Amino acid sequence: MSTEKPKTATNIQTTAEKIERLDSMNEEALKGGGEDRIAKQHEKGKLTARERIDLLLDEGSFEEIGKFVTHRATDFGMDKQKILGDGVVTGYGTIDGRLTYVFSQDFTVFGGSLSETFAEKIVKIMDMAMKNGAPVIGLNDSGGARIQEGVVSLGGYADIFYRNTLASGVIPQISAILGPCAGGAVYSPAITDFIFMVEQSSYMFVTGPNVVKTVTQEDVTSEELGGAQTHASKSGVTHFACANEAECIRQIKQLMSYIPSNCEEEPPMLEYEVGDETRDVLDNILPDNPNQPYDMHDVINGIIDKESFLEVHKDFAENIICGFGRLAGRSIGIVANQPMSMAGVLDIHSSTKGGRFVRFCDSFNVPLLVLVDVPGFLPGTDQEWNAIITNGAKLLYAFSEATVPRISVITRKAYGGAYDVMNSKHIGADMNYAWPTAEIAVMGAQGASEIIFRKEIKKADDPNAKLQEKINEYTEKFANPYIAAARGFVDEVIMPHNTRTKLIHAFKMLENKVDKLPRKKHGNIPL
Ligand code: HXC
Repeated sequence: MSTEKPKTATNIQTTAEKIERLDSMNEEALKGGGEDRIAKQHEKGKLTARERIDLLLDEGSFEEIGKFVTHRATDFGMDKQKILGDGVVTGYGTIDGRLTYVFSQDFTVFGGSLSETFAEKIVKIMDMAMKNGAPVIGLNDSGGARIQEGVVSLGGYADIFYRNTLASGVIPQISAILGPCAGGAVYSPAITDFIFMVEQSSYMFVTGPNVVKTVTQEDVTSEELGGAQTHASKSGVTHFACANEAECIRQIKQLMSYIPSNCEEEPPMLEYEVGDETRDVLDNILPDNPNQPYDMHDVINGIIDKESFLEVHKDFAENIICGFGRLAGRSIGIVANQPMSMAGVLDIHSSTKGGRFVRFCDSFNVPLLVLVDVPGFLPGTDQEWNAIITNGAKLLYAFSEATVPRISVITRKAYGGAYDVMNSKHIGADMNYAWPTAEIAVMGAQGASEIIFRKEIKKADDPNAKLQEKINEYTEKFANPYIAAARGFVDEVIMPHNTRTKLIHAFKMLENKVDKLPRKKHGNIPL
């Protein structure tokens, strides 16, 4: 940290000197924890707090707030170590011309640790963001609570958590983890809507490897315990794992392009002229054998505007795909079963992943497209003992309470309870399409035949032939979309190649949809 002090009031007389004083204080504030620590930050492949803001916001748009704030601590010699700005750069600017508030923690100042005044700076911009209806992006790089400050630092964290919670569903909140995030530093990001981490340089854990070793005798590295890959694939804590900081910031900006600035606004719409929207590729994705997998990404990309898919939670619970895309320029949220992973079955992780995504889209007026190919819920003790009932209910609840336009397309299987859960008409879907390949039934033909024709099959001279006959009978009767269409549970059976056109028309038809939930304080989603 620089020891050179900015000019004090006593040795300043003239206007020119007063202006010069401000100049030198501004310069001083830019240095953060000093050149040596900045060099160390760069050696680790990390950018500084200010460099990150420069990458994130439109050029020249950043306006800083609280540049001369200093901490108030006096213990442990802290009164002699005051740094202008106190370890966090806060302010506002624009991304693609849209107002955005930002805080960027400066690891070069006391390891980016959170002091009372550091927290006050963050709280100030969060309050402004709420009043002005604009997102908050937090760039986190912090050793947690400022150890020299004790409880005032903990209080500062709680002030932020409280505001994160009040802001949830009102303005989008996005967290980038760009260094260590331990203890209290993880809970603010956890309440925000999306978390981005960077491979090999960012960590999130409640307690680090040393404490883990002491308490559980486990030997684990920081990377294994709480690195980007761990949280992207094992815990699902992070929604995005990025190769480096520049890529992380690029992806944050891309995400911003799909979402509105607050819950009263619609997402940004790109200019698009609708022409011939036939996509023949969609006729050739599904294999003839209904038990053979295919990649649902091909269906998604076949439907949406070219290269518009931004996948969320890409490496977590891969049996469900969630992400943003565009349909004729309109931002949509996509939830799709993935037959390539565990046959697209619903389990605990896929249910919570899908449920949270649906709730984000509903909070921020992003219409939902649901692509259904689901054989049911995953059976077994592991799932039951870890509460697939409660967790599966989250997805059911999330769809049921969503009031945004909701459209389903059943591409193949829609079996059992999962048929109901995956945005069926019965739980409020606005439109439900099915491809001719759809099979809508209580369960697959083989399982169903084995149960309901058990006695008949057992008595038969050739049980295998009898079973096959019954499977054929069941398939003929139920493994199609026409019974559901006859009831109106499916609005139309459509050609795969027409799916894009149908969806463009239907989302346009629904663009002024108004739907309200019954008056309540808040619902009680099964947690
Ligand atoms: C004050 C801190 C600090 C902290 C780091 N520093 N963490 N100062 N409070 N929490 C200072 C260091 O003293 C050092 O100062 C500089 O920041 C850089 O730290 P290094 O240790 O040299 O860096 P590195 O080797 O990269 O390690 C980073 C680190 C480590 C992993 C973050 O510093 C660390 O473990 N810090 C403590 C983490 C922690 O336990 N925090 C409290 C969590 S509890 P100099 O002057 O040498 O450059 C918590 C409770 C909140 O947050 C609960 C709310 C619900």
